[in-house]
Amino acid sequence: MRFIGIIRILVILSTLLTTWYFAETFFNTKWEAKSLRTIFDKRSQETEHVKKPHNKCGIEKNCPSDYFAFRMISGAASVVGPSICLDDKILMSSVKNNIGRGLNLAFVNASNGTLLKTGFFDMYSGEIKDLMAFIDPTPEGTLVFLASYDDPATKLNDQAREIFTSWGSSYAKKVGFRDTWLFIGGKGLKAKSPFEQHRKNDKETNKYEGWPEMLEMEGCIPRKMD
Ligand SMILES: *[C@@H]1O[C@H](CO)[C@@H](O)[C@H](O)[C@H]1NC(C)=O
Ligand SMILES: *[C@@H]1O[C@H](CO)[C@@H](O)[C@H](O)[C@H]1NC(C)=O
Repeated sequence: MRFIGIIRILVILSTLLTTWYFAETFFNTKWEAKSLRTIFDKRSQETEHVKKPHNKCGIEKNCPSDYFAFRMISGAASVVGPSICLDDKILMSSVKNNIGRGLNLAFVNASNGTLLKTGFFDMYSGEIKDLMAFIDPTPEGTLVFLASYDDPATKLNDQAREIFTSWGSSYAKKVGFRDTWLFIGGKGLKAKSPFEQHRKNDKETNKYEGWPEMLEMEGCIPRKMD
């Protein structure tokens, strides 16, 4: 009896031990498998992220090598400032602290993409001569980026409108009080620029009470070949 009793205790003990052992390894394995999968999932997510191409300025298209990628956003009402990105470089933005109400202008070398200068000109209470001094004279082969913010037009005179028109603008002659306007032109351009958008300030259609909706434009500009 005593012998059988000892055997029983041993059997029970060994059953407990094996159960515990299995339980332990099983849970461990399961835990490991789970963490491995988490790592793997992370890896594959990262790989996917890397695989997804980053286009310059975050635009939809991937521009060919002899083109500049750009993305520009006009100001929104008198609240949010405009921004201009060229080949992954922010030329003008609120963060760069180089924008202001009125007309925002960035001049770039059309052959090599180098930023030449930026400026902003208050077209409501500023002086038109400041804008004129900035835009005239402009050397041939300059690419011009223009983004409106709040009011781009009250102080615009015929001479300035004529200059923008000569750079390929279709709207420079009609842009008015608090219209939104985006334009890319070039000194020496022989045709109308395909990169221009304009929205009329109109109480009936305005998105904001006193201003039309902001504009966004992106694409590829052919580099000037000499
Ligand atoms: C690009 O043009 C600017 C002048 O517009 C010049 O200073 C710069 O050196 C040029 N860069 C290259 C790489 O040619
Ligand atoms: C642009 O850069 C090219 C090459 O560096 C230079 O020859 C040309 O004069 C520059 N043009 C402007 C408008 O800066």
